[in-house]
Amino acid sequence: MSKKVLIGTKKPFAPEARDATLSLLKEAGYEALLLEGYEDPAELLAAVKEVNALIVRSDKITDEVMAAAPELKIVVRAGAGFDNVDCEAATNRGIVVMNTPGQNSNAVAELAIGMMIMAARGKYDGKSGTELRGKTLGLQAFGNVARRVAEIAINGFNMKVIAYDPFIPEEKIREAGVTPVRTLEELYQESDYLSLHIPATEETKGSVDYDLMSLMKKNAVLINTARAEVIDEDGLVKIYEEHPHFKYVSDVAPLNKDVLVVCDGDRCFFTPKKMGAQTAEANLNAGVAAARQIIGFFEDGDRKYQVN
Ligand code: 3PG
Repeated sequence: MSKKVLIGTKKPFAPEARDATLSLLKEAGYEALLLEGYEDPAELLAAVKEVNALIVRSDKITDEVMAAAPELKIVVRAGAGFDNVDCEAATNRGIVVMNTPGQNSNAVAELAIGMMIMAARGKYDGKSGTELRGKTLGLQAFGNVARRVAEIAINGFNMKVIAYDPFIPEEKIREAGVTPVRTLEELYQESDYLSLHIPATEETKGSVDYDLMSLMKKNAVLINTARAEVIDEDGLVKIYEEHPHFKYVSDVAPLNKDVLVVCDGDRCFFTPKKMGAQTAEANLNAGVAAARQIIGFFEDGDRKYQVN
């Protein structure tokens, strides 16, 4: 009997990406199932019952979901961050978890740059704004998205780019035309624009706190296309109130909706939905990569992108 693969995405892929992913699986002899745009997590629980593999986005894959899927062998997060998947529970159940690194990074990078321009131009309200050229952009972490942001900022805007990433050798950062800095404090002090590219982990949650943000320059802009969890939201509100020029632009809604009450002026912007990776190209890249990884796993035991 052919293996069943479910694309279970609350936030749907672009239709062409979804269809290409389904076709690839079918052509490889798999039964390809689809549950998209679901509202109630119970729908996902019902849909995973007989599946052997699951392709998801930011969908919460809890132990409960995995328990409802006794035949499940692999979950592929079509994207980079896999904080939505309970990896420990997956390991305990012998389920492989993978992500598709790099497949949606250009889309997120372009949005980060777009939001920087919007912040620089004061949301197009008629007042004089500023330009990106010649400004210093700080990147917190230097993974796939940050690399692409750096490339666009250097080649397109002649920005000076600095980065802090203790997990990447300094020479690798330099090779990209970016200046590594040794401390987070330095990164926050030096940046006119500071773009976050850290994952949400136990170590990073709430780590962008009041003390760090208060080191930022008077007119600095903080850009968050990473995760809401990394921000200390009480600290954010305090900085926003204390520093009349500080700007925050984010592709992720705050966890505490009260933040929106304070941060509602022209110095703050939240995309209404998480839009960084929401392009046809990124959906296609990530969906097709996820399907290929599932096929590779079942056919050849390929575990290259396993994260648990
Ligand atoms: C990621 O981690 O890949 C991005 O945050 C995109 O998430 P999404 O697939 O839910 O849009």
